[in-house]
Amino acid sequence: MTAVLQTTGLSVRFGGVRAVDEVDVAVAEGQLVGLIGPNGAGKTTFIDAVTGFVRYTGRAELDGHDLARMPPHTRARRGLARTWQSTELFDDLSVRENLMVAAERPAWLALAAELVGRPAGDAAATDAALELLGIGALVDAMPSELTQGQRKLVGVARAIAMRPRLLCLDEPAAGLDTHESQELGRRLRQIADSGTATLLIDHDMGLVLTICDLIVVLEFGKVIAAGTPDEVRRDPLVVKAYLGGGVASAAVDERDQREVST
Ligand SMILES: Nc1ncnc2c1ncn2[C@@H]1O[C@H](COP(=O)(O)OP(=O)(O)O)[C@@H](O)[C@H]1O
Ligand SMILES: [Mg+2]
Repeated sequence: MTAVLQTTGLSVRFGGVRAVDEVDVAVAEGQLVGLIGPNGAGKTTFIDAVTGFVRYTGRAELDGHDLARMPPHTRARRGLARTWQSTELFDDLSVRENLMVAAERPAWLALAAELVGRPAGDAAATDAALELLGIGALVDAMPSELTQGQRKLVGVARAIAMRPRLLCLDEPAAGLDTHESQELGRRLRQIADSGTATLLIDHDMGLVLTICDLIVVLEFGKVIAAGTPDEVRRDPLVVKAYLGGGVASAAVDERDQREVST
């Protein structure tokens, strides 16, 4: 299986902190890979590095192409899509327009659109992405009319409308109730099964253990375990570091509201 994403020895330092420390992760076509770990483990920073928002050392390849020195918008054009822990929507645009934010918009808005995903450009891809997430009925709604959970789903739809090679999701289930979370899980599985390589960060262990093909567990920036959900569930290091005492505290990520500035 050829990897869509392959990182080798990927590392990010913030001053003295090794936020991501020699991380090797591979995600293949059709694969859904979970990235879990306690708060501050480096999960978001890993996605920031892959999508071009922080500098890293080591290697990251998309479809075999080295991503080094490629700015975020170029990576987006090559097929890297991501969502953010806090979903930003343009409040004066409808849901459909939020997905379509087009190139003829002012430069800053076009840039902002590229940062969250290459504008899909065509209404068909936009509407299909909304349908895929079960929120087709919201296509003409305004962001102010949406629940927190629906805003999250629109954020995921926006990334999917890019028809990405690799979809990176940063806690898409945060703020969803159990039923919504299960529903999202079912749909993410479908998206992966249709071929899209997907990297999923989430604190909902039920969700991650149920839908992922492989799980990578980070602690203090390092991979402490990797394998199938069954392997990871039984791993003594994981039980100790994360599944044991950490679940309750991990449920509330104090970095949820972090604004990622560039
Ligand atoms: N922009 C930044 N500047 C300095 N330190 C940061 C920055 N972003 C994250 N960190 C630190 O890097 C580590 C990993 O954070 P993060 O990737 O947000 O973890 P997670 O997403 O797993 O909760 C933490 O120690 C965090 O405080
Ligand atoms: Mg995070």
